Amino acid sequence: MKYFFFLICLSLLAACSENTNKENYDWQLREGFPKPTIPQTNPMTVEKVELGRHLFYDRNLSFNQKQACADCHFQELAFSDPRVFSLGTTGEATQRNSLALVNVAYNKTLTWAHNGIKDIETQLLIPMFGESPIELGITGNEDTIIERFKTEHYKELFEDAFPGQEINFNTINKALASFVRSLISLNSPFDRYAYDGDDNALSESAIRGMNLFFSEKFECHHCHGGFNFTQSTFHEKQQIDRRPFHNTGMYNVNAQGAYPERDNGLFEITLDPADHGRFRAPTLRNIEVTAPYMHDGSIKTLEEVIDFYAAGGQLISDGPNQGDGRANPHKSPFVKGFEISEQEKADLIEFLRSLTDKNFLENPKHAAPSQ
Ligand code: HEC
Ligand code: HEC
Repeated sequence: MKYFFFLICLSLLAACSENTNKENYDWQLREGFPKPTIPQTNPMTVEKVELGRHLFYDRNLSFNQKQACADCHFQELAFSDPRVFSLGTTGEATQRNSLALVNVAYNKTLTWAHNGIKDIETQLLIPMFGESPIELGITGNEDTIIERFKTEHYKELFEDAFPGQEINFNTINKALASFVRSLISLNSPFDRYAYDGDDNALSESAIRGMNLFFSEKFECHHCHGGFNFTQSTFHEKQQIDRRPFHNTGMYNVNAQGAYPERDNGLFEITLDPADHGRFRAPTLRNIEVTAPYMHDGSIKTLEEVIDFYAAGGQLISDGPNQGDGRANPHKSPFVKGFEISEQEKADLIEFLRSLTDKNFLENPKHAAPSQ
C-alpha cells in the first residue's frame, strides 16, 4: 500500500514538474495575448530552445554537411527564403516557396496546404527525413549524423535540455520544435499602436491602410484576421474550429479549377475536387521582408499582390499556365475584386509594412550562436 502511494506521489510529481516547466517558460507575450497550445510530450524549456537554436544553424544536421535549417529560413527575412523555391542539400528544388517562421507556435496546421499536420514535431520530419525532394537528407545517414553531435559542447547542451536522455533524433526533433515555437513576433509598430495605445506608432497613411484592410470592401481580414493576421490559429482561448484553406484564384489551367500540376494545394492531401488550389492564408506579420509571395513565390512585390486581389484573381493569357483564375469555380467568394486608387494602394502597403517587427528580425536570441 505504501509503495502504491509512493508511485502516485511520484507520478503527480512528474506531472507537476511538467506543468511547472510549461508554466515557467516565459513566452514574452503582450498582456492579454493567449499562450500557444503545445504538445504535452514536449513542454517548453529555455534549455530546449537553446539547444534547438544551435541545431537550427548547424550544417552538421545535413548528411553532406552543406545545409542547415537556416539555409532556407533566414532570420533577417523573418526566417523565409528570398528564392522562389529553396534548394535542398543536394540541389533539389522544394515544391513550394519557403514559409516564414513567424508565430508558428500558433498555427493550427503546418505547411502551406495540409490539414493533417498539426504539430511542429511532425512537420519537421519532412525537412529532416524527406527524400522527395531531399532537404537535409538524414534518411540512411542517421548514425553518422548523430556521431557528429557527441562533442563536449553538444553533450552539455543535450544534458541541460534532456537530462539523462540520449542524443538521438527524437531529442533533436523536440529541441528544434521548441526553438521554432520560441520565434514569437508581436512587437511591430501596429502592435504598439493597437495594444500599447501609442498613437504615434503608425503614420496617417498606415492608419488609413489599416482601415482599408479591415473593411468589407477589401475583405482581407476574413482570411488574414485575428492577432496573428491569419484565421489559421490555435491557442488556449480558441473555441471555434475554422476551415483555414482558400483558393484565391491564382490559376485555372483547365478551366475547371485546376492549378498547375506542380502544386494543387489541399487537393493533394484530401483528393476532394473542391480543394483544388486551396492553401492556408499565411500570417502577414513581417510580410514586407518575406518576398517572393504565395505558395509558388510567383508574385514579387506587395504592390503586385494587391493588384492581384483587386483583379479578383489572375488571368494568364499564354504559356503553360494559361487560364482565367478569376473564374476558378473553387475560388473563395471573398476574393471578388475591387476598385482601388493609387493612394489607397500606397496606404494599404504602408499598413502591411507596419507589421514588420524589427526586434524580431535582429533579436540575438533567435540568431546563430557564436559557438
Ligand atoms: C531546403 C530548404 C529547407 C530546409 C533545409 C528546411 N526548410 Fe523548413 N520549409 C521549407 C519550405 C519550402 C517550407 C514550406 C513547405 C510546404 O508548405 O510544403 C518549409 C516549412 C517549414 C515549417 C512550417 C511553417 C508553417 O508555418 O507551417 C517549419 C516549422 C519549418 N519549415 C522549419 C524548419 C526547420 C526547423 C528546419 C531544419 C530541421 C527546416 N525547416 C529546414 C524549406 C526548408
Ligand atoms: C479568401 C481568403 C483571402 C482573402 C480575402 C485575402 N487573402 Fe491574402 N492570402 C490568402 C491565401 C490562401 C494566400 C496564399 C495563396 C497561395 O499561395 O495560393 C494568401 C496570400 C497573401 C499574401 C502573400 C503571403 C506570403 O507569405 O506569401 C499577401 C501579402 C496577402 N495574401 C495579402 C492580402 C491582402 C492585402 C488582402 C486584402 C486585399 C488579402 N490578402 C485577402 C487568403 C486570402
